[in-house]
Amino acid sequence: MSQSPVLENPLKEGIRIERASEPCAMVIFGAHGDLTKRKLIPALYALYIEGFLPREFCVVGMSRTKMTHEEFRKAMRNSMQQFASDIPLESAKWERFEQMLYYLPGHFDQKGGLDELASTLKELSEKHGTQGNTLFYLSTPPSLYNPIIDRIQESGLASGKQMQSLPWPRIIVEKPFGHDLETAMQLDERLHQVFKESQIFRIDHYLGKETVQNIMVLRFANGIFEPIWNRQHIDHVQITNAETIGVEGRGAYYEEAGNMRDMIQNHMLQLVSLVGMEPPITLDAEAQRDEKAKVLRCIRPFDLNRLEEHAVRGQYGPGFIAGQQVPGYREEEKVPPNSHRETFTALKLKIDNWRWADVPFYVRSGKRLAKHVTEIAVHFKKAPHRLFNAQFQGAADIIGPNVLVLKIQPDEGVSLKFFTKQPGTATNLRWLSMDFNYGSAFGQRTPTAYERLIHDCIIGDASLFSRSDFVQASWELITPVLSRWDETPEASFPNYAAGTWGPPESDQLLAPDGDVWRSL
Ligand SMILES: NC(=O)c1ccc[n+]([C@@H]2O[C@H](COP(=O)([O-])OP(=O)(O)OC[C@H]3O[C@@H](n4cnc5c(N)ncnc54)[C@H](OP(=O)(O)O)[C@@H]3O)[C@@H](O)[C@H]2O)c1
Repeated sequence: MSQSPVLENPLKEGIRIERASEPCAMVIFGAHGDLTKRKLIPALYALYIEGFLPREFCVVGMSRTKMTHEEFRKAMRNSMQQFASDIPLESAKWERFEQMLYYLPGHFDQKGGLDELASTLKELSEKHGTQGNTLFYLSTPPSLYNPIIDRIQESGLASGKQMQSLPWPRIIVEKPFGHDLETAMQLDERLHQVFKESQIFRIDHYLGKETVQNIMVLRFANGIFEPIWNRQHIDHVQITNAETIGVEGRGAYYEEAGNMRDMIQNHMLQLVSLVGMEPPITLDAEAQRDEKAKVLRCIRPFDLNRLEEHAVRGQYGPGFIAGQQVPGYREEEKVPPNSHRETFTALKLKIDNWRWADVPFYVRSGKRLAKHVTEIAVHFKKAPHRLFNAQFQGAADIIGPNVLVLKIQPDEGVSLKFFTKQPGTATNLRWLSMDFNYGSAFGQRTPTAYERLIHDCIIGDASLFSRSDFVQASWELITPVLSRWDETPEASFPNYAAGTWGPPESDQLLAPDGDVWRSL
């Protein structure tokens, strides 16, 4: 990130790619909400204490609730204590930081709702030297995105700036970006009427995770992986996102969204693209995003006549998580007792290009599964000649494949599974894994995804944000499946018990190729 000193020994200290932070005011729409207190303010404070915020910076929070600047500052300090205990909260530093926080009540769905904001930003630009640059953050329910864009346009806060580079408006749009292809494209069109594509930052917080950024580094900064990263050597790829939690009071949101929209359309397809992409020609945002969008466009559309061979849905019933009894999805607050919303999705994707022809990418994501884990497992082809099988007391086919696991959460790291000889006079083999863990390897606090992403937006680097064509390709892929699922409610719901690995049908996606889900 910016402002770090020039490195004397880049090999020892790590190589950083730097850009300067730019003065700006950040306007958070939805500042009384959950995301602001849990993630945004802690991220801003962490950036501040580590010297990564521009000196000329301020925040204006807005939402319906009436509050003074002082009340807002106090509420944010309390939420730091509640949600960000890993970030040291020193009184003197916080007191300096909170002088940059302001609050304005306002109704975004009413004409004139941002009138006061325009004059406040003008004042603050002089007071804090933000030079008229404004970063808007849409942290409200998605139904307010269009009204807020209307208000920004009416108030002239982004107008007249489209053709020149300074002062700039930028806008961060939270997920979900649309409900289906049509609504996503409508939102995109509306954004483009007010902002240039280079000013639009569609956030996918997965891309801000260290281990997700490490996928590119692992692949393209090392000479050993890329030569074997293709159909000649890789048998298949498994991507798992398993949560043990349920909908946690967000039943109304989940009932609208479901697992496919909540996890697959954005986070999981981003992971597929990072594993599947070609090397970008540079680290420039457009070069990276060109390659990611290309992979998505190569994914074979689902054959709706044989959908069950490629896509499986599930919904959890009551069960046990860590020995505790938990209710089924239909018993959750604000969920109808006959809901047909999916809480689990498993997909078999085929990427039709030279690198990946005939290599299945299996993706599964679900709530109330047996373990909290997100990982990418690259399964290599088995050794061609089974020289050692005879040593395994009659087991004919025990030598499995090498697996490279990119661990994303909760443990972050990389692990390679391989065979080794067990010590002794006989040649007995054993699986071992070579592990690298982020937590122990670097001995420093890992910045949160929001720290990285907000900072990137302030420096104008869009590499880790979704571009319009990626969003379009992702919705084009999944919208037909969602429509078919809506037309044909699954009669067997709930079809998996909380605390298991999802419906047994998901095993059938892998069985025809002789594969099985990893036992986690
Ligand atoms: N929470 C998370 O961890 C999380 C994670 C990923 C993505 N997101 C996304 O981030 C966005 C915000 O989520 P959230 O959990 O923070 O939502 P939330 O807790 O429901 O907060 C919504 C905010 O919008 C304000 N608001 C609602 N209607 C308004 C109106 N008509 N005019 C002005 N303000 C209005 C509310 O103000 P009042 O409270 O003053 O009424 C509140 O500040 C959503 O799109 C969500 O999908 C959230």
